[in-house]
Amino acid sequence: MRLRDKVAIVTGAGAGIGEATAALFGEEGAKVVVADIDGGSGAQTAAGIQAKGGEAIFVAADVSKESDARRLAEEAVRAFGGVHVLVNNAAAFVLKGFDATVEDWQRSLHTNVIGTAMVTKYAIEPMKKTGGTIVNLASISAWVAQPNFFAYSSTKAAILQMTRNMAMDLAPHKIRVNAVCPGTILTSASYRHMQQAKLTLQQFEREEGAKTLLGRIGQAREVAYAILFLASDESSYVTGTHLMVDGGYTAV
Ligand SMILES: NC(=O)c1ccc[n+]([C@@H]2O[C@H](COP(=O)([O-])OP(=O)(O)OC[C@H]3O[C@@H](n4cnc5c(N)ncnc54)[C@H](O)[C@@H]3O)[C@@H](O)[C@H]2O)c1
Repeated sequence: MRLRDKVAIVTGAGAGIGEATAALFGEEGAKVVVADIDGGSGAQTAAGIQAKGGEAIFVAADVSKESDARRLAEEAVRAFGGVHVLVNNAAAFVLKGFDATVEDWQRSLHTNVIGTAMVTKYAIEPMKKTGGTIVNLASISAWVAQPNFFAYSSTKAAILQMTRNMAMDLAPHKIRVNAVCPGTILTSASYRHMQQAKLTLQQFEREEGAKTLLGRIGQAREVAYAILFLASDESSYVTGTHLMVDGGYTAV
């Protein structure tokens, strides 16, 4: 019960890594605020936590909208009385390079960079009263070049730098800020990536797995455990840094 009685907002918690994180947080005693642009899947994540005896609410929110970011923090406080943990996980996967249009860039930057900034801006107001932890989802894509990817990769690199700056600005309020950099993790996002690369699941697993030291792609729950570490008191002397969760992808 590493998050007993902590109020935790997880954005993009309707699917993939966000869903696995919200579920794990529920098991660890957190009161979970499940946020997602997709009402159906977000409500399902919250119901799943409740079905296991945990506490959760669902808030429909598009993190790229400032009004939604503000309402998300307000609803967390209204339901559970504060905010102690924020996981900025929601992302737009604009997997493009020079073919990205201005509209593509706006979607990528608005959701991933501005969304992370705005959700954090409003969540820290209640968090300042108690101290807290923030975990931002970056990626191996912030570190290595991948073909036709930079409309996405550049937003993940921006998240890494925001993490360091936010850690500096929020340290006086006893708020720690860190990032997790997942490698290739099997989620709906990877199915979209597979389609774009015209690969079957087996080909994708073989090709991506071969790029890692562990010889396989990762599961969402494996990233959720790293997020839990950074969100909990177990990482009490860790701030302004990142944790690679990539099976050794970037070690070579
Ligand atoms: N899957 C991977 O291989 C991988 C690798 C590195 C980093 N990541 C990062 O991990 C995070 C989660 O990725 P995933 O693979 O679980 O994605 P996913 O597509 O499986 O789930 C993302 C969730 O975010 C929601 N979402 C999208 N836009 C939103 C918005 N504007 N507001 C609120 N919710 C929104 C979606 O509805 C969905 O439920 C992302 O930040 C991603 O960049 C993933």
